[in-house]
Amino acid sequence: MNTLVIGSQWGDEGKGKVIDFLTETADYVVRSQGGSNAGHTVIAHGKKYVLHLVPSGILWPGKVNVIGNGVVINPTSLVEEMAYLRELGVTITPENLLISDRAHVVLPIHKAIDAAQEEALGDQKIGTTRQGIGPTYADKARRIGLRMADFIDPARLESALKARIRTANEELQRLNWPAADPNETLEAVMQAAEVLRPHITNTIPVLNKAVREQKTILFEGAQGAMLDIDFGTYPFVTSSNTSAGGCCTGSGVPPTRIDKVIGVCKAYTTRVGAGPFVTEDAEIADYLHGLGREFGATTGRPRRCGWTDGVVLRYSAMFNGFDEMAMTNLDGLDERDCIKICTAYRLGDQILEYPPALMEDWEKCEPIYETLPGWKQDITACTRWEELPPNCQAYVKRFGEVIGCPVGSVGVGPDRHQTISVPH
Ligand code: IMP
Repeated sequence: MNTLVIGSQWGDEGKGKVIDFLTETADYVVRSQGGSNAGHTVIAHGKKYVLHLVPSGILWPGKVNVIGNGVVINPTSLVEEMAYLRELGVTITPENLLISDRAHVVLPIHKAIDAAQEEALGDQKIGTTRQGIGPTYADKARRIGLRMADFIDPARLESALKARIRTANEELQRLNWPAADPNETLEAVMQAAEVLRPHITNTIPVLNKAVREQKTILFEGAQGAMLDIDFGTYPFVTSSNTSAGGCCTGSGVPPTRIDKVIGVCKAYTTRVGAGPFVTEDAEIADYLHGLGREFGATTGRPRRCGWTDGVVLRYSAMFNGFDEMAMTNLDGLDERDCIKICTAYRLGDQILEYPPALMEDWEKCEPIYETLPGWKQDITACTRWEELPPNCQAYVKRFGEVIGCPVGSVGVGPDRHQTISVPH
């Protein structure tokens, strides 16, 4: 049984908890896109871990963790993350952490270009994480990138690095940004290469062998589907395919071998960074921040918040082919008198069921809301669907109808046991 877990909104949906739950029965856990722009908080064995590049199966003995070909890897960040995990008692070996030789490498020059490009945009900034993700995927598309396979032979790595740093410094000069020190980069990357080399392999046959042997593979999506470079709120997106299709192209596991696609969504909506957010609402943001919720896990910055956007979720459920939704943070709405859900957008005299393509249209869209009564009750101790208040059940059912995909489970608190199955 091979399952994809995909964030259905703009990231930070609480995928970590769903993945943690499914990891127990998985043999392989795979990351197939993104890089250290992701921050996955996982609570396992009563401890909190923040993972950026390493698949969360590393926290469990006997799982094989694969960083697939679609991921972009910052080698020094990965080495630091491995050291952090080892300090917390996690075992990491070349047998339980495999790195694709096709994955592209994020260098300090990519971070510098990311920052320089953002600054040049002034108040039109994308609001990137400045981890160099976009410039690295740009190198991949321009066919000038370094890949993990280049780490195998130190002499080859050195000359490839020198060449790329030279051309990047020319780009940085054009962007009026300080040049990178070639020796500093060289030293840091060459050192990281020593640590990573034993883990680098062709992961594509490894995963396909696992498929043939009917092992269980779990794909750990990063970011969210509305940050997908093809389907998201372009240009306010990340530079990879965060949607279901990206799991196949980013790992080499064919689409015919995927059995189930689970979408993760919050019971409301949040977003970090700039870009359209039709249901953004200052009042619900104040309410959630007042509860101490929706501050970035790494930066502590308050996230933008709003009501459920049924247009976005309907679209997301369609292009990802979700079999079901795992809804998180339902308890976040416990104290609300009423709850809104956006069923369509109004754009001038048109009613839209799916989002528009152009940014200027996105910005003009107004939400059409349906309002449901709240349940005004603490649901964090509920363990079964029948125990949830009727208004809460009604919201979950209506949510599924609006987006055209059933809600399979709801999260009523941060603990892994605070998850309730929803009967069909
Ligand atoms: P980049 O991925 O750093 O290029 O950033 C592009 C956009 O994606 C920005 O709006 C970021 O805030 C957003 N983004 C990137 N990674 C994450 C994530 O893991 N969670 C939420 N938003 C993200």
